[in-house]
Amino acid sequence: MSANNHSTVRGSFCIEEYPEPTAFVIFGASGDLTSRKLIPSLYNLFQKNLIPKDFYILGCARSPLNDESFRKKVENAIGERSDSASDSKTRKFSERCFYISGGYDADETYKELKKRLEILDKKFLPERNHIFHLATPPSIYPLVIKNLGLSGLSKEGKSGIGSVHVIVEKPFGSDLDSAMELENILKKSLSEHQIYRIDHYLGKDTVQNILLFRFANSIFEPIWNRRYIDNIQITVAESIGVEHRAGFFEQAGLLRDMFQNHMMQLISLVAMESPISFDADRVRDEKVKLLRAIRPFKINDLNNTIIRGQYGPGIINGKEVVAYRDEEGVDPNSKIETYVAAKIMIENWRWQGVPFFLRTGRRLKRKASKIAVQFKAVPHSMFYPLTTDDLNPNVLIFHVQPEEGISLRIQAKHPGPKLCMDALEMEFKYSEVIHEGLPDAYERLLLDCMVGDPTLFIRRDDMEVAWSFITPVLKAWERDPECKKTGPLHMYPAGSWGPDAIEELVNREGRSWINI
Ligand code: BG6
Repeated sequence: MSANNHSTVRGSFCIEEYPEPTAFVIFGASGDLTSRKLIPSLYNLFQKNLIPKDFYILGCARSPLNDESFRKKVENAIGERSDSASDSKTRKFSERCFYISGGYDADETYKELKKRLEILDKKFLPERNHIFHLATPPSIYPLVIKNLGLSGLSKEGKSGIGSVHVIVEKPFGSDLDSAMELENILKKSLSEHQIYRIDHYLGKDTVQNILLFRFANSIFEPIWNRRYIDNIQITVAESIGVEHRAGFFEQAGLLRDMFQNHMMQLISLVAMESPISFDADRVRDEKVKLLRAIRPFKINDLNNTIIRGQYGPGIINGKEVVAYRDEEGVDPNSKIETYVAAKIMIENWRWQGVPFFLRTGRRLKRKASKIAVQFKAVPHSMFYPLTTDDLNPNVLIFHVQPEEGISLRIQAKHPGPKLCMDALEMEFKYSEVIHEGLPDAYERLLLDCMVGDPTLFIRRDDMEVAWSFITPVLKAWERDPECKKTGPLHMYPAGSWGPDAIEELVNREGRSWINI
């Protein structure tokens, strides 16, 4: 399917696969995701010569555009989002963009799509490989998937078509049942190897680096366990509010939007066992195994293990911002959570007794996604009168974003009196080593889909285990709309680090949050 390119650059060893000729079909081509992420990422790949010249994009949506007006949109999206856009490259790229308009439920749309693909394939593709990207609202997915099946567009190896991959954006359902329903619809038209479920966190270089850090170095893995690690803290903080997505957010809440997917993926990468190879299924087997080992929340004790909050008014970056309930489109009595923190325990030999504290929220002080691994304190202090409590334990932090990098907090001698010591940071920052900037997560993921590598995509069982873990909590919260039995909805001021109650969550375990 794809050519393998191994190269050694300044001491680094890179393996990059080069895709075969591909048609990239976007459903929802006139929408926000297309102009914000898909077009700029595809353009960047094109500009870096990472996608073949035998390539084109066919947009499909209800908006009455034509090739020409779609190209204008494409060019604007590139101008706004791509740092490295040049006029001539942009034009070359947009010449490869085409558009058909039509309703997602109309047979005509799929007939027209098929016709257009045949013509364009003939013109541009020596081999016919198709990717269909579902960038529509999720309620449209079943319609598109069913019609891809009925029209024969999802069939591989027929009418000269090589591979057919379908990229599905999150959310995959809104709980375990609806996710299974969607899966059953997918299954009728597609095989698992054709389905690429995106969690864009997996496309972030710093997230992939967790695996390389752990398994391409020999010094960390021997201490990556309950004997040496005291606790692990995963924080995904955002300073933005609900922006223009109040409608979605009022239905979803943060547990669905961030926890079921991004947070669960982060914990699985940090805690999983070593896969026997970097092969897609071997990596995903280990991730699933880890997720299965997570102790389910006790529904009658939720208040002590998972807490939720909602932002009130406050100040962010010197600007006053309104409370969640005063955002446009939000119910003034809304009980939807904009913050979730949880204590998670993993029931296996490696992690027995090690708490994982996870927190994610909106309208927090600043954007910061970090994973902090706190090691155990030294067993004995020889630095009398300092006790072991006076010696800060080592903390390794993966700075996922922004200011991507890794740091290690260590105790070191401070110049001066004999017993003067300090916690110092040893730091590696991507920005100081890699000057061209990190690629957007979508670039990696779209390229991987083109080469047929699903390692960084969510497998069906992965998604199901994550939903099985979260759904009982969602249901319990739904059964308790006044938040009486499952714990209160804690209010927190916008611009803070979340509700005070999160302190208790860790203090109860004899720990405290690590400053990030
Ligand atoms: C998306 C969520 O999956 O991730 C958004 O739906 C959230 O609500 C976004 O803002 C965060 O992504 P990133 O890459 O900015 O951390």
